[in-house]
Amino acid sequence: MDINKIVRSKRKNKLVMITAYDFITAKIVSEAGVDIILVGDSLGNVVLGYPNTIPVTMDEMMIHVAAVKRGAPETFIVADMPFLSYQCGLDKAVENAGKFLKLGANAVKIEGGIEVAEIVKKFVDFGIPVMGHLGLTPQSVNQIGGYRVQGKDEKSKRKLLEGALALQEAGAFSIVLELVVEETAKEITEKIEIPTIGIGSGRFCDGQVVVLHDLLGLIPSFKPKFVKRYANLFETSKEAVIDFINDVKNGIFPDSDHVFHI
Ligand code: KIV
Repeated sequence: MDINKIVRSKRKNKLVMITAYDFITAKIVSEAGVDIILVGDSLGNVVLGYPNTIPVTMDEMMIHVAAVKRGAPETFIVADMPFLSYQCGLDKAVENAGKFLKLGANAVKIEGGIEVAEIVKKFVDFGIPVMGHLGLTPQSVNQIGGYRVQGKDEKSKRKLLEGALALQEAGAFSIVLELVVEETAKEITEKIEIPTIGIGSGRFCDGQVVVLHDLLGLIPSFKPKFVKRYANLFETSKEAVIDFINDVKNGIFPDSDHVFHI
């Protein structure tokens, strides 16, 4: 998959983007055939145990982007720009985005609509492809006042649509729509020419993105309506660890199959 194929897939093939944060999760999703890997700043919640994505730093993101690139060298990788890495002046924003491309990412993702259009244009002018992100934008959780579904009323719908058009005009090659009501996501998808990739935004987006740990059932405490679990790996993993602990305590492991002899 390259940027042109991603854009051309609109109204033809559904795009699938899945998060990965390290070497082995990148290998899993790339070998499974995902179109795009997102090294999301959701790693703040999922991997680093922060309460939200706001504490995530460039240094943390860079370690994970590099690991993902090593695990999936042939897959299209989008690196999420963390909070305050692109709201800090255009020159600094370009420098930060460029760091991800130097590590092997193919594009960056930034949150926001009209207010980030100038940044998007600058990145694109300098050869840095940008994926937009509208709807619930977790880096603005303090301003939004919680993780709420977006695009319910006329005003909110108009703002999202204007944001999508501004991102497209600025040169973004696709837009994530997070937690947008299905009707609004459908209308935005129909009105723009670049693909929309939805999460919790219904059936009519041009593609879907999911946090890998949600798909695999690795976070028992988090099960919003839009998440469908395809496995229950938290419980499966815990049971495996319990079995190991019991085997060691009871002298069952190691057995003769797992020892070396002279
Ligand atoms: O950080 C992330 O994983 C994201 C997705 C939820 C789109 O931004």
